[in-house]
Amino acid sequence: MCGIFAYLNFCVPKKRKEILDKLIKGLQRLEYRGYDSAGIGVDGGNDIEKSEQPTILIKKRGKVINLQEEIQGREDLNFDLEFDTHLGIAHTRWATHGVPNNVNSHPQRSDTNNDFVVVHNGIITNYKDIKKFLIGKGFEFESDTDTEVIAKLLKYMYDTRESDSITFRELVEGTVQQLEGAFAVVFKSTKYPGQAVASRRGSPLLIGIASKSKLSTDHIPILYSKGAGKNEGGTCTVTGNNQEALNTANSTSSFQPANGDGQVEYFFASDASAIIEHTNRVIFMEDDDVAAVTDGCLSLHRIRRSVDESSTRQVQTLQMELQQIMRGNYSTFMQKEIFEQPESVVNTMRGRINFDANTVHLGGLKQHINELKRCRRLIFIACGTSYHSAMATRQLMEELTELPVMVELASDFLDRKTPIFRDDVCFFISQSGETADTLMALRYCKGRGALTVGITNVVGSSISRETDCGVHINAGPEIGVASTKAYTSQFIALVMFGLMMCEDRISMQQRRADIIKGLKELPDKIKDVLKLDEEVHSLAQELYQQKSVLIMGRGYNFATCLEGALKVKELTYMHSEGILAGELKHGPLALVDKAMPIIMIIMKDGTYTKCQNALQQVVARMGRPILLCEQGDTMSQKEAHRVMELPGIVDCLSGILTVIPLQLLSFHIAVLKGCDVDCPRNLAKSVTVE
Ligand code: F6R
Repeated sequence: MCGIFAYLNFCVPKKRKEILDKLIKGLQRLEYRGYDSAGIGVDGGNDIEKSEQPTILIKKRGKVINLQEEIQGREDLNFDLEFDTHLGIAHTRWATHGVPNNVNSHPQRSDTNNDFVVVHNGIITNYKDIKKFLIGKGFEFESDTDTEVIAKLLKYMYDTRESDSITFRELVEGTVQQLEGAFAVVFKSTKYPGQAVASRRGSPLLIGIASKSKLSTDHIPILYSKGAGKNEGGTCTVTGNNQEALNTANSTSSFQPANGDGQVEYFFASDASAIIEHTNRVIFMEDDDVAAVTDGCLSLHRIRRSVDESSTRQVQTLQMELQQIMRGNYSTFMQKEIFEQPESVVNTMRGRINFDANTVHLGGLKQHINELKRCRRLIFIACGTSYHSAMATRQLMEELTELPVMVELASDFLDRKTPIFRDDVCFFISQSGETADTLMALRYCKGRGALTVGITNVVGSSISRETDCGVHINAGPEIGVASTKAYTSQFIALVMFGLMMCEDRISMQQRRADIIKGLKELPDKIKDVLKLDEEVHSLAQELYQQKSVLIMGRGYNFATCLEGALKVKELTYMHSEGILAGELKHGPLALVDKAMPIIMIIMKDGTYTKCQNALQQVVARMGRPILLCEQGDTMSQKEAHRVMELPGIVDCLSGILTVIPLQLLSFHIAVLKGCDVDCPRNLAKSVTVE
């Protein structure tokens, strides 16, 4: 949902070409967040004192490759020009306000001189009021975006400043205080060359630090603006150990690289995948933080002080490897992520299950185990695929915890203002950990005193930070917009939670042992399912010109139908519907004829006989079912038009195996139809707007 990337080199000479390459590479890494258009803002000249050299903005509709080609073709740019210190900002857009075109692309600017430019992820909900105000002050708008008001409001603040000594950071603080809605923003200005200011509220933003010198502390103190209490003023907190810079910033520096030579590079990005090849030292900004880089010196500020807030931000070391975000030999990230599942499920279980002792240890929940066991009900809140993982495990959760389990779509949960009580435990399941609907639901539940649990993939994400406790699914970076390996890992994380909850129940021991055995067998069985790839490809050839496909099942596999249908819709733009087999006779049967493709999932679990009934009903209406069934299930196979046999596994885990052929099917249909697998139209990963 829009990707932001910015790169500031301080006393590290870089040619313009190197800077542009870094910005483009950063955008490519973030492209999954939006690909309606892309743009960059860089210095016009390399004399940092000359503010009359306007910022160059290059923006292009479509994917980052279009921007890259545009830049390569720009004969007016001297690619060899060297910059000792420079800030470049960049953006890849998922359009919310204003159609995807060059003018609506970011960076947005304050005026035709490009005095202040900004890249923004989020939505400014009061932009119309601000626009009206600024038009009243003589500003002319060129785009249809909400973002343009931010750049122009900043310029207005600058033009009407009371003192020439006002800093860039103070101007930004004044500006963001006027904004309502969600934002992560990075600003660049010709009035403050070589400086960067960034802020966030509701949208993610992190800072990467690359310095040859060691950082002297891992905790950066927060500085409060005048009137906000202690630590007022502009203290330098991170530098390249440049004494002059320290003095300029009036420092009592608490965070500077030792034995440095003044050289330091900063990165601002919507997520870590964009910066991991440059540094693994990062600071995750919190809502309402303002970060400023002045003279190579990074400081973190807050305008207001609230009770209980941390007075520092930690510099964390990312464990992510560059290789994890490379596509390798696969044609798309989605394909890679589907085939990674034998390993990603192991990573989710690693160190958490003792297969000999049949025990499960989830360190992130340990401190809250009593509260969890004493709760009145469990509520699972999520969107899209993450919601389906909760649906997939609901039945097992009810069985293992003997608690009422509600599964809620975050947006609907909020619309209904669902009653929540102090003795509820609310789970927030989110691959990205940034989905706005889920995050809002989390804040809603927290405000009502419920215990909140995060099930996230992205370490340091808003949901993982704001929940009381949680489980990281450790599936590794998921880049394909369509979620695949995160689904199976969320599924397993929830199963492990259920197992943990019934560890001391004697009556449950055999069931627990069966499930844990199933979890152990899972990686090999996933490998077996992946061997069906050729068969799935052949099915895709049969289906790819169809208008619609129904996917039907029940019990543990109803969620697979919903998830499979979502994958088909989002990747292939074909209509697809997940149908509960028990509901067939209440309506969907009317759709069945010999032309309608129907995939039926029939596993040998408690619903087997009822699934047979549904199969007969479909066949009786001349339907030609495509069957996903267990190896050797000849009874079901007799009636099928096509069969795909899957290995058997303990009933409650079969959904992990049955979803994989549907992930592969949507992938192959998308390829056959010429759709962009990793970047389906109109979508973006990490939906940070409500
Ligand atoms: C579908 C898909 C989406 C996400 C949904 C929630 O393939 O990826 O439906 O599952 O947007 O995202 P997270 O899990 O990041 O909260």
